[in-house]
Amino acid sequence: MKESFQAIRGMNDRVPAETARWARLEQVLRDWLAVYGYREVRFPIVEATGLFVRSIGSATDIVEKEMYSFVDGLNGEALTLRPEGTASCVRLALQHHLLYDGPQRLWYQGPMFRHERPQKGRYRQFHQCGIEALGFSGPDVDAELILMTAHLWRRLGLTGLTLQLNSIGSSVARAHYRAHLTEYFQAHRDQLDNDSQRRLATNPLRILDSKNPEMQALIAGAPLLFEYWDEASREHFETLQTLLTGAGVTYEINPRLVRGLDYYNATVFEWVTDQLGAQGTVCGGGRYDGLVEQLGGKPTPACGFAMGLERLLSLMETVAGWQDEAGHLPHVYVIHQQQTAWALQVAETLRDAGLRATLHAGGGGIKSQFRRADASGARYAVMLGESEWERQEVSLKPLRGQGEQRSLALSVLASWIQSNE
Ligand code: HAM
Repeated sequence: MKESFQAIRGMNDRVPAETARWARLEQVLRDWLAVYGYREVRFPIVEATGLFVRSIGSATDIVEKEMYSFVDGLNGEALTLRPEGTASCVRLALQHHLLYDGPQRLWYQGPMFRHERPQKGRYRQFHQCGIEALGFSGPDVDAELILMTAHLWRRLGLTGLTLQLNSIGSSVARAHYRAHLTEYFQAHRDQLDNDSQRRLATNPLRILDSKNPEMQALIAGAPLLFEYWDEASREHFETLQTLLTGAGVTYEINPRLVRGLDYYNATVFEWVTDQLGAQGTVCGGGRYDGLVEQLGGKPTPACGFAMGLERLLSLMETVAGWQDEAGHLPHVYVIHQQQTAWALQVAETLRDAGLRATLHAGGGGIKSQFRRADASGARYAVMLGESEWERQEVSLKPLRGQGEQRSLALSVLASWIQSNE
């Protein structure tokens, strides 16, 4: 038997019915990003491994166990398929000196790769749309980012998303907190699961993120980060809350929200839903004031977020009208027998006028061509036979809704269809 191939587990194909919905979402995203003044950047899918290790942090789940890393067999470079976009976006801004021109509002989208256990909403190749505001100290821009996401949910007709908000303070405050948290968990070491015992030495804050039900009571009793905030973080967070409340955005403060990447400080947030099962985080982000400097730039405050497009699209399935494909169906299906050269020309004339025209290809009788025309979802069939050729007019037959078959000159065909859509 011949070997047959399948897509790699956790990496999905998209068939045409799905790509139509992806394209529609991408168009909404582009329009939305433009009204907020964000400009697109594109960076490679592969980067030096060190870029991610240094930015995301060597003791995070992503770097410890989820990266697709390999050594380039030709020159020995250590490379990684990008697990996220923030590190690459900052690298790009630095490499191209974008910050010389002042603060930058940038966005990107595309596939990201993490070697996680696949399940609904969690994939090994997934897609993010991310935005990064570089050179803004906030909290005005933090508030704008959050308003921006709320605006997108409205544009998409999405409801049922909750905003979770926290501040993780400055790095000094966090170091102080980390020491106390380590002491607390150390004192209860026997109650920690294996994963958490390991994290105790490397990244104790991540223990707070544990989903293990047996550890929830221990976690609930742990000291809280806000007790260690410095004055500047406290003020930043209070102003952000005032701005959000003033703008009518509701949020929940989640003191345990720490996020899984090390570059954050101060504001962190996530938009979550209970409509997607276990993978309910649709969007996550926050402030990362130290990252630009850490990657070799001048100290530059920054913040951003990224959304998972697969999760967003799953949620869109609950929105009425979203599945409607009318915008992609052909206006016209061109049926022909002996008149192929003419049919090609008629279809081109329709397309020149901006109509979507599908030319029947592959021969066959009129009946079977009509069946294809019907199946294509086209609004009209244009028929080109001997008698049409002699009259130098085409026959136009409505396939959907009311209306009679009629004979029209090619010169008026497109405008007639456009005025009778
Ligand atoms: P993140 O929370 O790791 O943040 O990912 C952002 C979003 O990507 C998640 O909320 C989720 O919707 C989606 N996502 C993550 N992993 C998967 C997966 N395996 N399958 C499907 N969807 C997934 C970041 O990546 C940061 N770079 C966000 C950011 C930008 N922070 C500041 N700027």
